[in-house]
Formats: sequence, structure tokens, C-alpha cells
Amino acid sequence: MREKIILGIESSCDETACALVNEKKEILASIVWSQYDEHRRFGGVVPEIAARAHLEKCDLLINELMKKANKKFEDLSAVAVAGGPGLIGGVLVGVMTAKTIALAHNLPFIAVNHLEGHSLTARLSHPVEFPYLLLLTSGGHCQVLIVEDVGKYKKLGGTIDDSAGEAFDKVAKMLGVGYPGGPNVEKAAKDGDEKRFKFPVPMKGREGCDFSFSGLKTAVRVAIEKLDTITEQDKKDICASFQKAVVAQMQDRLTNAIRVFKENYPNAKDMVVAGGVAANMSVRNMLQTLADKNDLKFSAPPIGLCTDNGVMIAWAGMERFLKGKFDSFDFKARPRWPLDTLE
Ligand code: KG4
Ligand code: ZN
Repeated sequence: MREKIILGIESSCDETACALVNEKKEILASIVWSQYDEHRRFGGVVPEIAARAHLEKCDLLINELMKKANKKFEDLSAVAVAGGPGLIGGVLVGVMTAKTIALAHNLPFIAVNHLEGHSLTARLSHPVEFPYLLLLTSGGHCQVLIVEDVGKYKKLGGTIDDSAGEAFDKVAKMLGVGYPGGPNVEKAAKDGDEKRFKFPVPMKGREGCDFSFSGLKTAVRVAIEKLDTITEQDKKDICASFQKAVVAQMQDRLTNAIRVFKENYPNAKDMVVAGGVAANMSVRNMLQTLADKNDLKFSAPPIGLCTDNGVMIAWAGMERFLKGKFDSFDFKARPRWPLDTLE
């Protein structure tokens, strides 16, 4: 039988990315072009600049991708694209590009929810079975969900203010350790003293699975203001202490989530992390320990598939394709698109 191949396109934030994935979970080719240089001097993503950069790069990268994999558009089974949620200018670029390729080559079109892309990635890299418990932690989101099936999500909790990724990015900006924030804070934290600053762990001990990071961010700002001059070591200590507080909150929230998950699905075995912050080793290590303690199997996608990429969209597209879930060319790019409203 003919190999099933999905083209996935991602352009919802500051990465222009595309990939080809087949039904055997093989990545035939993948390109991620990060717009860091475009946004660095602003200390964060500027939506208008992002949209223009996506427009400039999207077609070129897809052509390069097809060449790399030595495939023609005729070899594709469908075209999948992140249809939202995200920065609308960028999402529009991806959606228009995907629709054009699909129309021109008579292929099915699949609009993938960007968060579903993150959520299903671990099923590409690991043998993860539905239903599974998921910590989805990225720049725009911090949620705990039970993934019951493709398109079926039960949200157990979410952030009441900032996301974890946002907190990493804001702390990085305050300390001037560079953009993108998460990886730079993690790097600085490696040589820092995590016990030096006693930052609060919001939500700790409370019922439910909600998160909050804005108080922690404020505590970091106050700590910085208290220091007359700030040395490189001070920065490292703040990063380490901050990261410890983030991880402590996640541990507390996930402990509650595991209890709910086990009550609902006593036979389920899998726990998964996804999203950009899932690239953080302290977060991954804590989750591994927590899973071991609770007799769950923990799976985390490879670091390169945690932050935004085309593979996650192509794979989620494949999962949808295999279930016959296609979208019409009337689909409109969505700035907001909660995961638990897919079905
Ligand atoms: O999933 P993602 O690439 O984009 C969104 O969908 O938002 O996540 C980006 C977020 C950023 O906030 C970035 O600082 C954070 O993920 N991040 C990290 C790490 N790598 C990326 N946070 C902590 N540690 C990391 N190693
Ligand atoms: Zn993302």
C-alpha cells in the first residue's frame, strides 16, 4: 500500500516550521526556522514582525523540506496546519499556505489545534496509550488535562494568570539573561544556589489543579529591586530559586491531578508532558520521580519536539487523517481555540 505522508505547517508564534511524517511515525524531514534574531532586540515576540517573517519564509521552507525528503506534493496524503490558537497574522499565513497546497494538488486539508499538536507529540516518540494524563506547559498555556482520544480532552485545571513559559520569559527579561527566556534561565540556574531566595509557591496545598505564576514573578521583581547592584552570581541564584518554585508548584498541582486521573481511570498508566517548558530538565526530572512514585509510565518528547515545530502538527494531522477527521476550506484561522472544545 502507498505510504501515507502528511505535511505539517506551524506558524502560530515565532517559529516558522514544517515537517513530513508518515504513519509509521517516521520523520521524513523537518525544518524549524526560529525568528529569534527578528525579536531579540525587543525582548519578546512582536506579532507584526512575526507575521511578516512567516510570510517571507513559509513557501521557501516548504520547498526546501520537499527537496530534503525527495518527495513531491503528489506523494502527500494530506496537508495539516496549526489553525490556532496563536498570533493571528502568523496563523493566517500558515492556513492560507496549507489551503493553497491542498487545493492545487487535490489533497485533504486538516486544521490542527496547536495545543493538540503539543498534546499528541509524545505518541509519536513513545508508545503512549489513551487515556493519559498531560501537563501542557508552553509560552501561552499551562494546563493539566486527561487526553481521552484524538480531539477529546478533559481539562482538570489551568493557570488563573500567567503561564509558566511567560513567567520564565519575564524573569529572563527582568534579569537581562536574554531571549528566549526559558532556556537561558535554565542555563543560568545550573550554577545558581536554589536555596538563596525563598520565593513563594502559589497554589501549593490548595484543592484542584489550577496554577498561578504572577505572584512568583512579582516576588522575583521585588528581590531584584532589593539588591543594590546585581552580580552574575545573583542572577544565577535568582534563576535557580525561581525555577525551584515553578517546579514545586507543578509537583503540588500534578499530585492532585494524578489522584483525579486515577479515580477516573484506575487502569490507565501513562503520564505525559508537552509544550516548550517541557524542555526544562528540572521539570522533566520532577515529573519522572512523581510518575515513578505513583506507578505511572512517564513519557516526554525529545527536547527538540517540545518547543514549537512542524513535526507535532504533521503527527497530529496524521492522527486526525487516520480517523477520517478533515476540515473544510471554509476553516478560519483562530486566535483562541480551547482544547476542551474540539469535540
Ligand atoms: O511551546 P512553545 O515553543 O510555544 C508556545 O506554544 O507558547 O513554548 C515556548 C515557551 C517559552 O515561554 C519558552 O521560554 C519556554 O517555552 N521554554 C522553556 C525552555 N525552553 C522553552 N522554559 C523553561 N525551560 C526551558 N528549557
Ligand atoms: Zn507551542
